[in-house]
Amino acid sequence: MKFSELVKIRQSERKYLDKPVEKEKIGQCLETARLSPSANNSQPWKFVVVDDPELKEQLAGFADSMGMNRFTHQAPVIVAIVLEKMGIASTVGSVIKDKEYSLLDVGIAANQFCLQAADLGLGTCIIGWFDEKKVKELLQIPRNRRVPLLITLGYTDSPARKKIRKPLEVFSSRNRY
Ligand SMILES: Cc1cc2nc3c(=O)[nH]c(=O)nc-3n(C[C@H](O)[C@H](O)[C@H](O)COP(=O)(O)O)c2cc1C
Repeated sequence: MKFSELVKIRQSERKYLDKPVEKEKIGQCLETARLSPSANNSQPWKFVVVDDPELKEQLAGFADSMGMNRFTHQAPVIVAIVLEKMGIASTVGSVIKDKEYSLLDVGIAANQFCLQAADLGLGTCIIGWFDEKKVKELLQIPRNRRVPLLITLGYTDSPARKKIRKPLEVFSSRNRY
């Protein structure tokens, strides 16, 4: 599939089929995320794959609240992205330039994971709305770590939706703001 087509079929999937995801495909998604760029090549992430059905169900329960993210119960796999400590260069750079490089890094890696999944015929949804404290306790993530994102992963038969995005002239400009 051409990259330009891949980015069109990648969409946030909120319905999943009752079908397990092959370990090799999960591995391929992880590998593509692993190759992501990061500030100073700091790679400030750890991807925790949750495919144990009972654990995954508990995890879904921590994302499902206030009418948000009920679909997480359907997904056979949920990946928690843990923010690891940046290298010294990125940490200093983040302070001097007042930019959270590690969050940018994690966002890029999450997207690479999702694009690889789409290329393998899998659906994903990046999840930012969840009870981080409970997720950390459940997955035994050290208290001094943050979990900025979860990603649901699974098979889906939803057709591709039309993308709703800002028009190009609002989204971009040439030479000046
Ligand atoms: C940082 C981030 C957090 C998100 N959190 C959620 C979430 O908690 N629940 C959800 O259903 N979608 C979530 N999304 C998915 C967005 O709603 C979705 O990407 C956006 O509406 C564009 O739609 P598309 O992904 O289908 O193209 C999140 C996306 C990002 C990038």
